[in-house]
Amino acid sequence: MKDIYYAEKKLTKALGKMAKNATNPKLKEAFLTHQSQTEDQVAKLEHAFGVLGLTPKAKKCAAMDGLLEEANEHIEEYAKGAGLDAAMIVGAQKVEHYEIAAYGSMRSFARTLGYNEAAMIFEGIREQESDTDELLTNLAESVINPKAEEETEDVSGRAKSAAGSNGNGSARSSNNGSEDSAAGEDSSSRTSGREGGDDALAAEESNVNISSMTDGNNREGESETGAAMGY
Ligand SMILES: [Fe+2]
Ligand SMILES: [Fe+2]
Repeated sequence: MKDIYYAEKKLTKALGKMAKNATNPKLKEAFLTHQSQTEDQVAKLEHAFGVLGLTPKAKKCAAMDGLLEEANEHIEEYAKGAGLDAAMIVGAQKVEHYEIAAYGSMRSFARTLGYNEAAMIFEGIREQESDTDELLTNLAESVINPKAEEETEDVSGRAKSAAGSNGNGSARSSNNGSEDSAAGEDSSSRTSGREGGDDALAAEESNVNISSMTDGNNREGESETGAAMGY
């Protein structure tokens, strides 16, 4: 409980930052809605501490710190747009899955120990996390991932037309184009030539981003895990 209490408090701030950086209005709204739900969950946890005769106390949660650090890296690395929206959904869904596992276990422990009121509180929060996860999957699959793919195609197209020149149309926010473009070099020299900031390199990175994003919206995987864990 101390662990998830810390996690929820920290998440409240992170969701505000995600909302600020979201481009899609529905995603922005989803982050803001879940931010207020998360504030409410902090209050529910405080109530659960009270029900169990305990004083609310937070203990550093290394898992949430790591997940949020990873989500923050996306925000710092990519310019605003559908690609960043999709990446933030991945980050947010990793957080939701962590919470679903935590509350599922807490609920089961409470049931076993006969703390039925606490069990009902934990189950109520777990359902909210699960609904949020499902909402994010729907947003990703219906609008944001296809839009991110379009953006990737746009960047690829521009990269092709700019091949051989030092075009500066990258989607990345920091783009310090140098005279020595990395276009045409082999992949090992591209890695060391990241500061060149050419379009081909940006397009390649965007492609990697999109292909890795789709894995995060897997309904079947989530329900299988849930079933296995008895959620
Ligand atoms: Fe939560
Ligand atoms: Fe959550």
